[in-house]
Amino acid sequence: MIKGSTDIYCIFGHPVRHSKSPLMHNRAFHKLGIDACYVAFDVTPANIGAAIQSVKALNIKGLNITVPHKEVVIPLLDEVNSDAMEIGAVNTIKNEGGSLIGYNTDYKGFIKSLQENDILIKDKNFLILGAGGAARAVIYGLIKEGAKVHIYNRTIEKAKSIVKSFDRLGNISIVEKLAQTEQCDVIVNTTSLGLKKDDSLPINASLIQTSHVVYDTIYFLTPFLEYGQKIGCKIIDGKDMLLWQAVYAFEIWFGIKPPVLDMKEVLYL
Ligand code: ATR
Repeated sequence: MIKGSTDIYCIFGHPVRHSKSPLMHNRAFHKLGIDACYVAFDVTPANIGAAIQSVKALNIKGLNITVPHKEVVIPLLDEVNSDAMEIGAVNTIKNEGGSLIGYNTDYKGFIKSLQENDILIKDKNFLILGAGGAARAVIYGLIKEGAKVHIYNRTIEKAKSIVKSFDRLGNISIVEKLAQTEQCDVIVNTTSLGLKKDDSLPINASLIQTSHVVYDTIYFLTPFLEYGQKIGCKIIDGKDMLLWQAVYAFEIWFGIKPPVLDMKEVLYL
């Protein structure tokens, strides 16, 4: 029941109609009897500044930020936590008495999704395909957990720029030509290849072996995951990362743990 006292939480993105965040958070609010509701706002790049101002004006208590605004919101906030600053992207904002604080829960969500699937991280070799915003969060999380990270990207300059920003933090290198993957434990797709049904695989199929864990940050069965499944790899899609980034956002807003299983249930509806 929406009342005069109901607090508003939301997501800003463009496009955003497909977002699963309203489903997950509203389910958690309902389950815990929290007087709040969560809505999605389609905010164009031209309007992101005004939209962030409106968070203060309307006293929106907390929000998520998704593509394409995760980087551009940083200078619009009053404070940004150090992880989000290192990654260069904010996906969660808390309104603390009129002061907007930015966080990144994507990287924590990614790490938790590996742990939940019993994937070892420390000293393991991760091949990351792509060097965009999603890759930065994934790589930051892996480095913090002591993984050995290898980045392959179509545009090598972008991979170089990630190595430059992260190599003081841990073990990270560039793969210029992807010729062999034997030493890899996990291959993670962070490119947008797979969003469309007829997309090609993000790497040559001959480089994917049964011993690999095949992880896609896209949250449905992509051709990459389908191929991995076909040859007997353990596969993980992006739903778990999506779930856990929402769980951690909820914890930032409310300081309590949300009902994870209920949130998970709506993701699979
Ligand atoms: P996101 O924030 O979702 O990571 P992004 O920052 O636009 O999105 O990054 C998209 C990634 O997908 C990039 O690594 C991009 O490669 P380039 O740096 O070469 O552009 C990769 N990508 C997109 N389309 C691709 C394609 N057809 N083949 C290979 N890589 C592709």
